[in-house]
Amino acid sequence: MPGYVIVGGQWGDEGKGKVVDYLAKDVSIVARYSGGSNAGHTVINDEGEFKFHLIPSGIFWPQVTCVIGNGVVVDAETLREEIAGLTAKGVEVSRLQISDRAHVIMPYHTATDQLEEQARGDGALGTTGRGVGPAYTDKTSRSGIRVGDLLDHDLLLPRLKEALKQKNAIFTKVYDAPPFSLEETLEQCREWAELLRPFVAPVDETLREALRANKNILVEGAQGTLLDLDHGTYPYVTSSNATVGGVFTGLGIGPRAIRGVAGVYKAYTTRVGAGPLPTEIEGEVAEAIRERAWEYGTTTGRARRCGWYDSVAARYSADVNDLTDAIVTRLDVLDGFHPVKVCTHYRLDGQTTQQFPTTPSILARCEPVYEEFPGWDAPTAGLQRWEDLPGEAQRYVKRIEELLGRPVSIISTGPHRQETIELQPFIS
Ligand code: GDP
Ligand code: IMO
Ligand code: MG
Repeated sequence: MPGYVIVGGQWGDEGKGKVVDYLAKDVSIVARYSGGSNAGHTVINDEGEFKFHLIPSGIFWPQVTCVIGNGVVVDAETLREEIAGLTAKGVEVSRLQISDRAHVIMPYHTATDQLEEQARGDGALGTTGRGVGPAYTDKTSRSGIRVGDLLDHDLLLPRLKEALKQKNAIFTKVYDAPPFSLEETLEQCREWAELLRPFVAPVDETLREALRANKNILVEGAQGTLLDLDHGTYPYVTSSNATVGGVFTGLGIGPRAIRGVAGVYKAYTTRVGAGPLPTEIEGEVAEAIRERAWEYGTTTGRARRCGWYDSVAARYSADVNDLTDAIVTRLDVLDGFHPVKVCTHYRLDGQTTQQFPTTPSILARCEPVYEEFPGWDAPTAGLQRWEDLPGEAQRYVKRIEELLGRPVSIISTGPHRQETIELQPFIS
């Protein structure tokens, strides 16, 4: 029963979309288990360039069924756009399945996300403003609307009435904002029901059946371990479990189905939104990385904060997910930088440590201790064989591997599917 999981090893945007598009050649199902349209996964292949917020990045492989699991929160408008974009390019989307138990991001969730962020003022978290947090809040408070509810008017009406009664009181009395109309929201739900109906399926059964038939499943994580609601740098996190634990609740499969868990790591570090980033760099080098790598958010367009590779944070996320493999992306971005640095320890209160404190106030006091590499001039961009990498780039990857304590199975040397070096098979 072979399932393979891809998780973000850092603060998101590690290149999970690229990696999943590459690996999906060997699987029957690609499944998303958490997050919502806060995710932005870029795929570049011979079909063009795509940015997916919800549709799993395996959609280009004709043998792949793409699954949106119950743990995902679904923004129907985003899905409509993604389906339209793919259809326009002649990509078949009938292989998409959406769980009837996935929660729906309602218009009042998006409004709440934005109003809450404004109200936080200087303490804003820097959310993507997509309503993801409020949708998960309603899920846990048991007042959410699920995809299955949209399809059943008799079920939907009383739930929506109840939700709007409470939401509108908050909008008008707390935020002095306009209320949402029941009629308009219902009409919106009717449209979404028609859009989603053809794709709604009992996806947990689809997954378990595939596993019983010994078919390979690839699970596509969203966000990153350090943004995980429980294991990240709370409160500067997202509202779901991006780590491997989320796979089981978010899809309805068991841990024995999983044969491998790979963490995707950029060869350096980035973060969008607020919260401490110990290896953050500013000035010319950061600017050069940002411009070369076009480190601007896939979902929001915000400039990503950049820093050197942080092996303390990386090993923490390897442990939390019990990684079997690591995947290093964007090695090419470091081409021509002298020196290149790796953080091996933190210095905290006069002591060196390799522990990663998740409490923001403590993490903010950690000073990175660096090991320097001379860098390399010969380009790694686009390379497909380990032997072709400059010696210094090889040594850099080997050191990352050593510090992580996990084998690096894949190195990505460019955004295109083919710009990939496979060192050992992750999916067997
Ligand atoms: P995700 O959220 O983890 O899927 O990552 P994003 O798509 O948000 O951000 C990763 C960015 O890096 C995208 O623009 C990708 O096209 C790009 N990318 C992925 N792998 C590589 C790589 O190896 N080299 C370069 N230069 N870009 C890459
Ligand atoms: P992918 O899947 C990077 C960040 C936001 C913010 C925090 C909370 O593309 O790697 P939210 O809207 O989730 O309530 O915002 O989480 N964030 C991401 N950062 N990549 C992502 O997804 C992210 N999804 C959320 O910037 O700091
Ligand atoms: Mg992204």
